[in-house]
Amino acid sequence: MTSLAKSAPPSQTRAGLQDVGLPPAAPIHQLHHYAYRARDAEETRHFYEDILGLPLYHIIQSDYVPSTGEYCPYTHFFFRLQDGSFIAFFDLGDDVAALPSPNTPAWVNHISFRVDSEADLQSMKARLEAEGVEVLGVTDHHIFKSIYFFDPNGVRLELTAQLADEFQMQKESTSAHARLADWTARKQQWRAERALGRAEQALKPAQNDRPEFVKKASAKP
Ligand SMILES: [Fe+2]
Repeated sequence: MTSLAKSAPPSQTRAGLQDVGLPPAAPIHQLHHYAYRARDAEETRHFYEDILGLPLYHIIQSDYVPSTGEYCPYTHFFFRLQDGSFIAFFDLGDDVAALPSPNTPAWVNHISFRVDSEADLQSMKARLEAEGVEVLGVTDHHIFKSIYFFDPNGVRLELTAQLADEFQMQKESTSAHARLADWTARKQQWRAERALGRAEQALKPAQNDRPEFVKKASAKP
């Protein structure tokens, strides 16, 4: 955690950053790469290149980690998306897979890649299932539709076909800060009650944007 994050909650840091005269945030244009541990480079290459169609594009091999200087021989390899960004992996030469998070549900941490259409979701689902990969969906999120599956390293992946246009997304974005501020206020109240031993283990949102899934869940035995 940074000292900034420790010193003030987010609602104060937004204004505070401007007050202390920091340079403006540089434009961040797109994902450059996301990196994760791979159990085996060839197993991972087969999945991303042969099934998902992302070409292997770059490899870096070294004994020492440039950022930390520590000794840890690795093979770092990159698959290229259509927009020039990458998903990358480290094979540490030990056939060891990354462990799943012990305190986070398996569906939470994931990466989503955009495809052009729902038809593309269906064809990718067919490709994956033909290779024995279990696929969830097509799931309707209203502004987009998705399928979900895991790669050989336990990374949860999502393919997404955007439905809403830029106008609708921009329109919905106007309420995002107000909704988050409301959530944060309720969170502060929940923390105060938790400190007194009177709160539930987790706070539930006041609003439910997906009521159709409530019906499905309650219909199950
Ligand atoms: Fe997602």
